[in-house]
Amino acid sequence: MPASPWSQTVAREADGALRVGGLDVRDLAAEHGTPLYVVDEQDFRARAAAFRDHFGAAFARHGAQMDVFYASKAFLSSQVAGWMNDDGLCLDVASLGELEVALRGGMPAHRIGLHGNNKQVDELTRALEVGVGRIIVDSFTEIEVLNGLAASLGRRAPVLVRVTTGVHAGGHEYIATSHEDQKFGLSLATGAALEALRACHEADHLDLLGIHTHIGSQILSIDAFRASADRMLRLRAQFTEATGADLPEVDLGGGYAIAYTQGAEALDPADAAVAIADAVASVMGDHGGTWPHFSIEPGRAIAGPAGLTLYSVGVVKQVSLEDGGSRQYVAVDGGMSDNPRTIMYGAEYEATLASRASEAPATLSRVVGKHCESGDIVVRDVDLPSDVERGDLLAVAATGAYGRSMASTYNNALRPAVVAVRDGRSRVLVRRDTIADLLDWDVPA
Ligand code: LLP
Repeated sequence: MPASPWSQTVAREADGALRVGGLDVRDLAAEHGTPLYVVDEQDFRARAAAFRDHFGAAFARHGAQMDVFYASKAFLSSQVAGWMNDDGLCLDVASLGELEVALRGGMPAHRIGLHGNNKQVDELTRALEVGVGRIIVDSFTEIEVLNGLAASLGRRAPVLVRVTTGVHAGGHEYIATSHEDQKFGLSLATGAALEALRACHEADHLDLLGIHTHIGSQILSIDAFRASADRMLRLRAQFTEATGADLPEVDLGGGYAIAYTQGAEALDPADAAVAIADAVASVMGDHGGTWPHFSIEPGRAIAGPAGLTLYSVGVVKQVSLEDGGSRQYVAVDGGMSDNPRTIMYGAEYEATLASRASEAPATLSRVVGKHCESGDIVVRDVDLPSDVERGDLLAVAATGAYGRSMASTYNNALRPAVVAVRDGRSRVLVRRDTIADLLDWDVPA
């Protein structure tokens, strides 16, 4: 389905400036500075609710239950954890840091799942102490370590086994996660997954709840999700056949694609929900038995299109291209430190002049940052008016997922603030780094 990369409340003022959440971006920039990540709260929560409702309804048609775990690696702040809690979602965390922010936001520990291919002892210990609802175990080593830790703490560890189903899907090699030749999970094909399930089942201090898979990210193919659900349910049936034990939980991961540019395809959660529930029903029909409790973990499809980045334009220059054409370079006050996705994955983005209208002809442009390397590109190719100048604001769409969460302090850059906007009001979710922060992290002689 072709979709817009802009959040639902983005509109133009009468004079051509961009508006989001009922606020003029010029006022946002004046109040909070640039670069600035802006989260459209209404849009974010509507996307979360759409997953909850569409998947809930599609599985309810078969009498089954479904939980949505927002994958907080896409973007997390304690207020966002609070939104997800209020809206009835659960949370997937993948580090001690994410766990602490989720807890600060009031997300109940029993609605949190902890991920990671190499979880540290302090992460597992904290998860057991606060009582997270599920730890997704990723290796035999972890099964052993966790069982030992649970014993020493006098707790039981609720676990799901992360399964590598062999379904290869996703936008970029580095974000596909369920083929054999990568670091995550226990292989279905080699029998490791089944063996790990047995190990968890037999471990004295683990409660085996079920199985988990995540096939990758930015996936447009519903068939990939269908195939993965199919393989997971066959594994579940195989385990029950072999041991007589039930696996009450099946998590099918995240990865739902969004549109990064105007007219690009996105995976509609309503379509995906029906297709996946039907695929599940068909395997369940083959094998019989009770339906498990399902869950999914969308991150990007909730946070991505809900966020945009505002930049101020500094330097503009024209270069001549070998083919006789020309390109306008528009340098902004951020770059690869606030959005590394362009350089990491060759990601494409949509940008627009946000502070005014322009009648000037559109010209092939490249939005670049202020870092000291030529690969510091925010948007590789985009049409912008030929009169873009110093002091203009640019907005880049769909930066809400994996933007702030992957931001760096390269060149001792100050990571931008994140503000939520809604109904004409803005609230800071994450404050901007300051020079005082940088000097604080630095240890002088
Ligand atoms: N569940 C698990 C276990 C995951 O590892 C991930 C993402 C998700 C859910 C959420 O996937 P999503 O729905 O957001 O696609 N930095 C990359 C994406 C890495 C995703 C890592 N895991 C990017 O910027 O595209």
